[in-house]
Amino acid sequence: MEAVEQINLIGLKDEKPQPAQKIWKHKHILDLDDFTSEEIDLVMQTTEAMHEILSRPIKKVPTLRGKTVVTLFYEASTRTRSSFELAAKNLSADISNLTVSSSSVTKGESLIDTLETMEALGADIVVMRHPYSGAPNLASKHVKASIINAGDGWHAHPTQALLDMYTMLKHKNSIKNLKVTIIGDIIHSRVAHSNIWSLTKMGADVTICGPSTLLPKGMDNPQPYFPKVNVTTDIDKAIKDADVVMGLRLQLERQQSGLLPSIREYSRLYQITEERLSKADKGVIVMHPGPVNEDVEIASTVAHGDKSVINEQVTNGVAVRMALFYLLAGGSRNE
Ligand code: CP
Repeated sequence: MEAVEQINLIGLKDEKPQPAQKIWKHKHILDLDDFTSEEIDLVMQTTEAMHEILSRPIKKVPTLRGKTVVTLFYEASTRTRSSFELAAKNLSADISNLTVSSSSVTKGESLIDTLETMEALGADIVVMRHPYSGAPNLASKHVKASIINAGDGWHAHPTQALLDMYTMLKHKNSIKNLKVTIIGDIIHSRVAHSNIWSLTKMGADVTICGPSTLLPKGMDNPQPYFPKVNVTTDIDKAIKDADVVMGLRLQLERQQSGLLPSIREYSRLYQITEERLSKADKGVIVMHPGPVNEDVEIASTVAHGDKSVINEQVTNGVAVRMALFYLLAGGSRNE
């Protein structure tokens, strides 16, 4: 428990430590656009404490004893769902995994009715994935439980972006001025969108790259409401001197037809290969949120090569999600 108790004393680096509850303002985690840099920093530091717990022979602490976590996934998931489940169990929460395909959703039950049923059964935190952008925001307006967005449509995947940042910090000193290149199907990628918010907030120099049909419009111009990133269709330019190269899966299930001539053409022009990667900074790390389509968006030799931290990302997902449960539970205790 020592590490968890210490979290309350952790504040910004090089500043007088502040209690976590003074920094943390969130009841829900819907996206990272409304996170302050202090909150992101707190999540990183809390994750470090959770990482320490996970290095112990007995990984379980009683922090969330008596709390109930429900996972509600309307879309498939391997990594996110299982790491949320492990995170909840490590903190001694009770956990219920609702399998949508065998629930009353198949009989026409609405999202709100399902959530109210989960709340009636005692849910304190609902982790939800949904194919419709904004579904977790809607949910947060109808229930008292905390909602964690585990991926909604094209919109956001905030916990993935936080575990991505934590993984970057395990290899790099700071996010500030880090050259991060995200390559692939940016427009349909909730991972890219959340990463853009969090990385730019912490001062990274972010480049997005892909065919013009898969790039959002207007991201390279300063906007009042959107972060500024570099945008290019030239993969060699995007990778040159990058500290971090992140590949993304082609989200074929979300794409209209006609956005790409063919998968083979896409791979020829945008696959992260060893040759292309040789132009990056020599300490480059290669990331991918998964699931990976090997030899489509990334060469299998790169995905499994010495620069790849893809499996570390998965491992770090548990500590990040433990940290978020901890911070949310602390917030609700104060209400
Ligand atoms: N990165 C990610 O969201 O993976 P899953 O779809 O397996 O959860």
